[in-house]
Amino acid sequence: MTEKHPLQIDALSGWKRTHDCGCLRKEDAGLEVILMGWVNGRRDLGNLIFIDLRDRGGLTQVVFDPEVDPRSHEKAHILRNEWVVAVKGRVSPRLEGRENRDLPTGEIEIKALELRILNHTDTPPFQVDGMVDASEALRMKYRYLELRRPQVLENFRKRHHIATVVRSTLNSKGFLEVETPFLTRSTPEGARDYVVPSRVNPGMFYALPQSPQLFKQLLMVAGFDRYYQIVRCFRDEDLRADRQPEFTQVDMEMSFADEEGVMQVIEDLMKALFHEVLGRPMPAPIPRITYHEAMERYGTDRPDLRFGMEMEDISELAARSDFRIFRGTVEEGGVVKALTVHGGAGEFSRKGIDELAATTSEGGARGLAWAKVTEGGWQSSLDKFFDGSLKARVNERLGAAPGDLLLMVADKRPTANRSLGLLRLEIARRLKLYEADQFALAWITRFPLFEWDEEQDRLVSVHHPFTSPMEEDMDLLESNPEGVRSRAYDLVLNGAEIGGGSVRIHTLPMQARIFRILGISEEEAGVKFGFFLEALKYGAPPHAGMALGFDRLVAILAGVSSIREVIAFPKTTSASCPLTEAPAPLDEAQLRELGLKPIR
Ligand code: AMO
Repeated sequence: MTEKHPLQIDALSGWKRTHDCGCLRKEDAGLEVILMGWVNGRRDLGNLIFIDLRDRGGLTQVVFDPEVDPRSHEKAHILRNEWVVAVKGRVSPRLEGRENRDLPTGEIEIKALELRILNHTDTPPFQVDGMVDASEALRMKYRYLELRRPQVLENFRKRHHIATVVRSTLNSKGFLEVETPFLTRSTPEGARDYVVPSRVNPGMFYALPQSPQLFKQLLMVAGFDRYYQIVRCFRDEDLRADRQPEFTQVDMEMSFADEEGVMQVIEDLMKALFHEVLGRPMPAPIPRITYHEAMERYGTDRPDLRFGMEMEDISELAARSDFRIFRGTVEEGGVVKALTVHGGAGEFSRKGIDELAATTSEGGARGLAWAKVTEGGWQSSLDKFFDGSLKARVNERLGAAPGDLLLMVADKRPTANRSLGLLRLEIARRLKLYEADQFALAWITRFPLFEWDEEQDRLVSVHHPFTSPMEEDMDLLESNPEGVRSRAYDLVLNGAEIGGGSVRIHTLPMQARIFRILGISEEEAGVKFGFFLEALKYGAPPHAGMALGFDRLVAILAGVSSIREVIAFPKTTSASCPLTEAPAPLDEAQLRELGLKPIR
């Protein structure tokens, strides 16, 4: 490297920065300053050399003028983008007409009196301040260069601001910030664990926590009353734009509180975030929708409420038509559900509707029926199967008028809901039914306590096994476990699940009963959660809590589409890190020490 740059590097030699590169204004004219940063751009006009100097604070223009200081002007000839420099100079107003209105420092420039070159650079693999973008793999490998981009940095300022508001709000409500272990035992949040071998206990493993669930409940048994933590969680699961193998939660728990207590704290927190981070009021009140209702109206348990277009059940009317598929589906216990796209008849051609049908098939639907409502009836292959009065009744039921497009799916209820739910989102995206800076929150409540897991062929908890069943459903626990609703709640923002929590079970007999229903034997429960069951014997108070997905929350408030953009060093969808090349093999000696055998 020194071969490439046989240039002298200057020392700081006692120079101290007086300002950052974003703060000088016209009023500072005449001031002698020292700025330090990276060369963001350079224009060599022969007699004058201009550079834009960049640091975390912003950009400032520096001029090297031979008449002001010939030595620094001479030296500035060799500067290249991303070199690290220190400049001593005088703040001057820019010449009239030369101001840059887009830059906060655009009314001034620094006339250089002395230049120190603090470091050189190899040619970066992509332009730091470039419009042309590099591949994602390259940007991740050189993530520290991507992080130099001001718009990327902005996401981290926002993340920091949000964390500050979270802490100050929860502190003001009497919550205690407590750290819980990372080297621990498995916590059942439904994903696989990341495990860490123990050197001093060969053949034994710690699990990294999927959440601090059991520890925060133990803190309630301890009498800590109100706990929170901004905490890393680890889950080995399939990754997507909104999932990382390690991610951050705002985790909280409260004693002597129920769902109302937790929801109130979280709503106050969201209000503070909207006010302080976005500078606008939170849309209130936050609607509460039961899980059942959400599935029926939106086809998902995380409905995007920035727009309406709810689905309607038209089974009863559809069964009276002569359309065989509709009749047959309803006779077999299925449903016919519909979406009405107001003004949609003119928006979607036949080809466009075929594309929509592809979306419904992702949800498992076998087909998508449609009708364009006209003055005279329906423009649709279904037209002949519905007599005039039946069509009128369907239109009336759906609030449809000429120019509207009706989209219908006949299937088993869950399939119809899921498929139309996906379609609803796709149409909203295509027709831009919401603004980029619009926000809609919702609470989803009364989730099922259990669901049947086809893969494992057994009953599993929808949230986790420490969630309390609803009082009025207790009688069904053994006879119809899938019919039992839980005291769990999720918070949804713009169609993303940003948090979940529940009222917990705080008595040993109920906890043991839930494990029994889940098919977890007393012995297995003892091995896995014995320490926790033991704690329930010693005066556990009623308690409830919640965890917000901090990365998701930040991403949505920052208006970016992936949580990777708000994580400094994220992982790829295959859980690897192109920068450090983790995960990596261990050498044989390390494996031996850990009591592990290499896989050949
Ligand atoms: P849950 O599993 O619902 O609840 O997690 C809480 C929130 O964390 C976020 N989240 C994730 N974010 C990024 N990457 C992931 N892989 C990931 N997984 C989850 C989601 C989710 O809503 N212990 C319970 C909380 C409680 O009951 O108090 C828990 O962890 O936004």
